[in-house]
Amino acid sequence: MLRTCLTAVRGPAVCVGRCFSSEVSGADSTLAGFSSPPFSTEASLYVHWPYCLKRCSYCNFNKYIPRSDNQDVMLECLQRETETLLKLSQVSRITSVFFGGGTPSLARPSTIAAVLQTVTRHAGLSEEAEVTLEVNPTPVGSSKLEDFLHAGVNRFSIGVQSLRDDDLKVLGRDHNSQHALQTVAEARRLCPGRVSVDVMFGRPGQSVASWELELDELLSVCDDHVSLYQLTLERGTQLFRQVQKGQLSVPSDDITAVMYDSARRILQKRGYLQYEVSNFARNGAISQHNMSYWKASQYLGVGPGAHGRFVPRGEGYVCREARTQTLEPDVWLREVQQRSHGTRRRIPLTHLGLLEEVLVMGLRLTDGITHQHWQLFSPRADLYQILSSSSEVQDLQQTGLLILDDRGLRCSWQGLALLDSMLPTLLLLLEAYITQGLDNNSGSLQL
Ligand SMILES: C[S@@+](CC[C@H](N)C(=O)[O-])C[C@H]1O[C@@H](n2cnc3c(N)ncnc32)[C@H](O)[C@@H]1O
Ligand code: SF4
Repeated sequence: MLRTCLTAVRGPAVCVGRCFSSEVSGADSTLAGFSSPPFSTEASLYVHWPYCLKRCSYCNFNKYIPRSDNQDVMLECLQRETETLLKLSQVSRITSVFFGGGTPSLARPSTIAAVLQTVTRHAGLSEEAEVTLEVNPTPVGSSKLEDFLHAGVNRFSIGVQSLRDDDLKVLGRDHNSQHALQTVAEARRLCPGRVSVDVMFGRPGQSVASWELELDELLSVCDDHVSLYQLTLERGTQLFRQVQKGQLSVPSDDITAVMYDSARRILQKRGYLQYEVSNFARNGAISQHNMSYWKASQYLGVGPGAHGRFVPRGEGYVCREARTQTLEPDVWLREVQQRSHGTRRRIPLTHLGLLEEVLVMGLRLTDGITHQHWQLFSPRADLYQILSSSSEVQDLQQTGLLILDDRGLRCSWQGLALLDSMLPTLLLLLEAYITQGLDNNSGSLQL
């Protein structure tokens, strides 16, 4: 979700690019289907587990506290929806799988294994495919890691959030720092080089100095991948209310900007290369799955509230759709039982909508968008044609925030921290170019 630029893209139980995409329904769209990324028989798969043991004070994700044990029916429905969407997309290979939530480490390892078997039965899943499971670092979660490994998981993403016990309490987490350290150690033992940790900054009462110390501590125990989340105050959450009432205060935007900058420097010094706004990797351990979102590849979203972006070829369509599954788990379960899927919303992506996603997602990468990559989606209008004559873009280049050169379009180090403020300009230029028909797209339908 692109809440802010510094918020890592989480699994697509949320809509990537939502803030910027101008999706229109197929009926309204004269431009629908004019996109032309290359024909692809591959996709990644996101599976959403909607349950948590308790609500963290800051979280407005699609998550529910289970009223009863419904693991059997969840298993049946996740398998059924996976099969339906695989058939619908007609993809022959799933390149990566991400079990996100909610708290997917509450699922039985046999459920994870069963979903993966469904993928293998109805499409290919190569031996090397990255299969990530989000893990809450509670004793329950960590005790099952080995079983998850045997179920087919080969990468763990651990929601450490903080190493300060007082802060974990304020955040309403159900783990403490010792649990977190034990879980990271166990995950590293089982999956060396394939463990990621999530850590949050901009927390109530946090100072730059304490953040730097904490990050240093974390880096001395963690593995090769780190995701930095800037805490977003979400309406409707307990934390939002506490801050509104003056019971807690969060650092100002200026302070969080300093925290982000110092984190980037510390991570770099410790050998973690930044490859995306919020993501850092050592030893090339980048997240293949998330990379598929940033590269605007096809993905299927299974489970309550999951989002997907794919071409429903099984129904004869040639245009990519943005798809959302029903949010509420009980309703989703009923729908899957009745009609084998819980798809609630289907929006054909217009040519412009797809290019917006390529732009918004691609600019999050430190490598940005190469000309070759852009051309896959926009064969007729290159980045120079769309952007280079604009005085605003020239200003951004001159101030050293944006780079448009023979490699493609990307943010500078400084620009990456200010991406949100540059996107409206770039999106307006793209929209103007496309809606004025300057790309002269003949509208051949391929994907
Ligand atoms: C939704 S959680 C799911 C994984 C797992 N349940 C956990 O909490 O670690 C994925 C990530 O989103 C982060 N997140 C949730 N709400 C957030 C917010 N308001 N601001 C920043 N990060 C948030 C979580 O802290 C976590 O690292
Ligand atoms: S455990 Fe994760 S998904 Fe569940 S409430 Fe906390 S942050 Fe949200």
